[in-house]
Amino acid sequence: MYVRLSDGREIPMEMHKVRIVQKTNLPPAAQRLAAMEGAGYNTFLLRTRDVFLDMLTDSGTNAMSDNQLGAMMVADDAYAGSESFYRLQDAVKEVLGFEHTLPVHQGRAAENLLSKAFVKPGDVVPMNYHFTTTKAHIDLNGGQVLELYTDEAMKTDGTHPFRGNMDVQKLKETIAEYGAEHVPFVRMEATTNLIGGQPFSMANLREVKAVAATHGIPLVFDGSLISENAFLIRQREAGYADKSIGEIMAELMSCVDIFYMSGRKSAAARGGLIATSSEEYYGRILPWLPVYEGFATYGGMSTKEVEAMAVGIREMTDLDTAGSGVEFVRYFVERLVARGVPAVTPPGGLAAHVDAMRFLPHIPQEEYPAGALATSIYLASGVRSMERGTVSTDPDESGKDVLADLELARLAVPRRVYTMSQIEYAVDRLAWLYAHRHLVKGLKFAHQPPVLRFFFGRLAPLEDWGRELVRAFEADFGTEC
Ligand code: F0G
Repeated sequence: MYVRLSDGREIPMEMHKVRIVQKTNLPPAAQRLAAMEGAGYNTFLLRTRDVFLDMLTDSGTNAMSDNQLGAMMVADDAYAGSESFYRLQDAVKEVLGFEHTLPVHQGRAAENLLSKAFVKPGDVVPMNYHFTTTKAHIDLNGGQVLELYTDEAMKTDGTHPFRGNMDVQKLKETIAEYGAEHVPFVRMEATTNLIGGQPFSMANLREVKAVAATHGIPLVFDGSLISENAFLIRQREAGYADKSIGEIMAELMSCVDIFYMSGRKSAAARGGLIATSSEEYYGRILPWLPVYEGFATYGGMSTKEVEAMAVGIREMTDLDTAGSGVEFVRYFVERLVARGVPAVTPPGGLAAHVDAMRFLPHIPQEEYPAGALATSIYLASGVRSMERGTVSTDPDESGKDVLADLELARLAVPRRVYTMSQIEYAVDRLAWLYAHRHLVKGLKFAHQPPVLRFFFGRLAPLEDWGRELVRAFEADFGTEC
């Protein structure tokens, strides 16, 4: 919720109070440099004790509600038949309308099961955009991801309200080209993560569903960020301003054959699930669940997390909860843009994204501008962001880099975790970095793992620019912070 102050300013209002806190630490710049060198210029390899604001991700880092914590205390520990599972299944049915729920330990486990059950070598899977783990599982099963995004999707300074839409014409052409028998499902990702947390519209989902249904192809919905997409539909799509988040979610689900989610984001827990009302799809996936995850009533989660997810799924429909991240993201992005920093617009659902190709135009993509931006943000602020560009894109079969469509540094906003002054601090240090961007140079790989290289890869700065940057920072702010 945004509130207008008497001086005309508008600010996002926290509709919760903080009753448990965790101390954080702001290491001085010289210490940040040592930590970054130790982490091989990869923010994934930093320890949290060296991080001031952890904006690496909003996954598993959201503040839980008192009701979630309370529910964890009444978890029913059982290998089979746990009451906790039935409470989760009831919540899914009530909020999302599906008969069957298959719990899994997190979102990528759902992707593994879906890919195992549906994708055969030679298949293609059309989607509005890929997510790293989704693509990895489809590839591992011999399938190919086809991204059917619209022309608006890659405009990082765009104004289109639904840059996560699928190009429906391209979907028709793809099905005609490959044949429906080679398209096991069409996937739509809510609040499309890798293109800046951009939502799709209800109208677009309906059109995609209509095309898929004509050919008997199931629609799979990645709802890891479902409440954010629903919140943005309510704000941006004509006819939805007076609908509740629950009503919008139910309308979205009326188009969906198989739903899955990482429960670590919108649901503020640490698990995942697949849900469907189709007996056939349920029957296809169920046998694999105990092989990879656990029995069908816990799926690799602790029953405490199953309880937290059940409450989290109900709370996703609350307007203040659904907006708790989105409204802070909007403020963050608007403040960055006001300071001249090339943040991705319009603001998306999970993070402020900064366009590294506009921030660091002197760094060619082969030298990983988004990686350089993420590391320099940490050096200038102690804020940990995530590279979402060529480092996060695995090389082709010959080992050659595949240049990413976008080079972004993602500053995720975990829900209900950070305050306005912490956001202001991040904005200010990014503005300082932008003024000193000429000091930042590229990176090269020192160690490259064979798959999802961004997790454990180690890089090195070209020309040792980290030291130069820290020297400039200390000249302006001293050696204490
Ligand atoms: N789908 C989407 C849209 C996601 O954003 C994620 C995770 C997953 C699937 C996989 O779920 O992590 O529970 O296995 N996104 C995290 C992130 C990792 O940082 O954006 P998971």
